[in-house]
Amino acid sequence: MKKIFTRPMGELVTKNPFVDNYKKMWPFVKPYWFRAMLGLLLALPVGALDATVAMFMKSYTDDVLVAKNATFAAYIPLLIIAFVLVQSVLTYLVKYLNSWVGNKITLDVRKKLFRKLLSMHSGYFDTTDSGFIMLRYNNDADTACNGLINNLRMMVTRVFSSVTLIFVLFYNSWQLTVIAVGAFSVAGALIFIVRRKLEELVRNTVVINSIAMRAYNEMFNGNRTVAAYNLQDDQERRFNQLMDDVFNLNMGMVKHTGWLSPVMHFIVSLGLALVFWQSSSMIVNGTITSGNFTSFVAALLMLYTPVKTMGDNYVDIKKAFLAIDRIFELFALKTEISDKPGTVTLTGVRKDIRFNNVSFAYKPGVYVLKDINLTVPVGTTVALVGNSGGGKSTVVSLLPRFYNVTKGSITIDGVNIENFTLKSLRDHISVVFQDNFLFTGSIRDNIMIGRPGATEKDLQEAVKNAHLDDFIRTLKDGLDTELGERGLTLSGGQRQRVAIARAFIRQAPIVILDEATSALDNKSEAIVQKALDNLTKNRTVFVIAHRLSTVVNADKIVVLNEGHIVEEGTHDQLLQIPNGAYASLYNAQFKHKAQHA
Ligand SMILES: Nc1ncnc2c1ncn2[C@@H]1O[C@H](COP(=O)(O)OP(=O)(O)O)[C@@H](O)[C@H]1O
Ligand SMILES: [Mg+2]
Repeated sequence: MKKIFTRPMGELVTKNPFVDNYKKMWPFVKPYWFRAMLGLLLALPVGALDATVAMFMKSYTDDVLVAKNATFAAYIPLLIIAFVLVQSVLTYLVKYLNSWVGNKITLDVRKKLFRKLLSMHSGYFDTTDSGFIMLRYNNDADTACNGLINNLRMMVTRVFSSVTLIFVLFYNSWQLTVIAVGAFSVAGALIFIVRRKLEELVRNTVVINSIAMRAYNEMFNGNRTVAAYNLQDDQERRFNQLMDDVFNLNMGMVKHTGWLSPVMHFIVSLGLALVFWQSSSMIVNGTITSGNFTSFVAALLMLYTPVKTMGDNYVDIKKAFLAIDRIFELFALKTEISDKPGTVTLTGVRKDIRFNNVSFAYKPGVYVLKDINLTVPVGTTVALVGNSGGGKSTVVSLLPRFYNVTKGSITIDGVNIENFTLKSLRDHISVVFQDNFLFTGSIRDNIMIGRPGATEKDLQEAVKNAHLDDFIRTLKDGLDTELGERGLTLSGGQRQRVAIARAFIRQAPIVILDEATSALDNKSEAIVQKALDNLTKNRTVFVIAHRLSTVVNADKIVVLNEGHIVEEGTHDQLLQIPNGAYASLYNAQFKHKAQHA
């Protein structure tokens, strides 16, 4: 239970959180400042409406109830209608304006957050919890922007409402006011005392919510694994445990703060009792009129709501501040992969791609690649083989700069790839992974991602070369068939061929194939392999393949073992090495096949 709270949450470290947070948000409010200000200004008269009613009570009691003034009484229905009309229109305007501003700001913040995440490097996604991020998108953005605006409006209305009502109190009788305000102050002080507990509640709820969201996320994305390993019971137990913790946490908070409301209610009632006791004698001896008394009690009762809810407002504004902190933590992120000043556009590969003494560590100090030297002449195919975990995928992920090399350099025609713009570098590379991501949308959309400007002819050609045409013809909607979330409606081989068509249409001179056929059965592998042969024709190719039969024709085969290149050469050369690493890998697979034949 304890350990989930150890994550660093955005602590308020500022001296004046109010000023600081509004200052932070100012760039977002600025484009809409006029409407924001108008919304707040109109909130002032809304706040003063209660006091008007309370004042009216005095005239009504003294002139109508006591003095029986018939003319005044005749105007009353009209006054009420006029008053309600003004109140309704103002309330609507204020709500509309503030919602407009709040939603507009939320929209801008969400857009900026999405853009920020898109710019982040692969390493960030390796280590960041998706539940936490989703929560920031969904709840925090809304709490921060809408919450802040709405709470500010309510706060303004309530403060103004309280101030004007207190003025009415004083107007009617200062003695009674002293008694009443005294009782209210004691009640208000209580809110201050439990403030810390309330803040803790807010923070913990945020943590728990994000953990629950992650659990749901994993249920969706991992449902196959859950089913395959019969993890339902285990997952359920863990989720139930989490939910029980939430329950206990909430009840703990109710225990610590739930007494607040009844106790406040009691103190306020006590104040009221004192007011009645004192006022009776004041009316009898003529210090105040009956109208003063009715007006006073009306104002006092009306004062209860804004004062009581100001406490909730305070908590909500705190919530908004914490949300702002968490959002600005995201805004403060810096991607590790970006264009340095003075980068140039890569326009093509003319001579070769080289890895010069490349070392790489995902975590500082833990090197998974050590001193890799490799030259790949343009138009040739290099195959990376070796045991799993040897660093093959890591080598090829350095070329499109999913990660930056830790030591050494990668060059294209002698120029460090970090000197090319990221966009032009990646435009020259097509990647086909073992598991390719298909987006929600049609097959056509998913292929066109490869090169958004491609023509219909390019598209048809890519489909044909990827050996997708026969399959597409069987579909009622052809290329416009909609794929389910993540393309789960296609088989592995079909999905792979969509990915190959996407790589095709890109027409990039460098092709990376990372175990592109490994997840497939023999039959689909054969057809995907044909598609890949088309894709790699006349290109510079990095191929990682589990089945060595697919790499025997490579111009160069590199054996990677624990981050080192242990052997390098053609298939025939490597087979000649006595007790060689490649020879033993090859023989193992060959014998395996022979046994099954
Ligand atoms: N995103 C990552 N973060 C941290 N370590 C990683 C990451 N990806 C791979 N590794 C580690 O790097 C090493 C090489 O992995 P990889 O390049 O995927 O090997 P291969 O493709 O040869 O199977 C392994 O020890 C693996 O655990
Ligand atoms: Mg791999």
